Amino acid sequence: QDTSPQALIEQYSAAAGAAASPENGQALFMATHSGGKPDTPSCTTCHSADPTKGGQARTGKPIDPLSPTANPERFTDTKFVEKWFGRNCNSVLGRDCSAQEKADIIAWLVSL
Ligand code: HEM
Repeated sequence: QDTSPQALIEQYSAAAGAAASPENGQALFMATHSGGKPDTPSCTTCHSADPTKGGQARTGKPIDPLSPTANPERFTDTKFVEKWFGRNCNSVLGRDCSAQEKADIIAWLVSL
């Protein structure tokens, strides 16, 4: 544990050069995308449409809530956050998420 949701929002928005937008984060998270793997069109595929609740991996394995409101362990470990943003953005979007997108998503998740 080396960081916090707020510190990550600040770092990513500084890198992006713009303030985080929770609205844009919500839109990205909830949208159905076509650039990634066909079986993972959305963040909600695994994290559910309510990230204060749990979700499940493709294998059926339960995933704890992604929102720090419901799960204080979220967004407290930089390496873990970067590892999973990398993996999941590529599965869903077929590319990395930008610093702006990461800031937006975390800003939305902390607002829930
Ligand atoms: C963990 C974001 C889509 C499965 C994470 C974490 C982030 C994240 C930031 C780590 C958070 C932390 O603990 O600090 C996203 C975003 C997605 C997305 C933005 C959409 C672009 C998916 C999809 C799957 C998935 C489609 C399933 C194929 C997982 C799993 C973990 C995880 C298994 C790690 C286990 C856990 O921490 O409970 N995700 N995710 N995610 N995500 Fe996603």
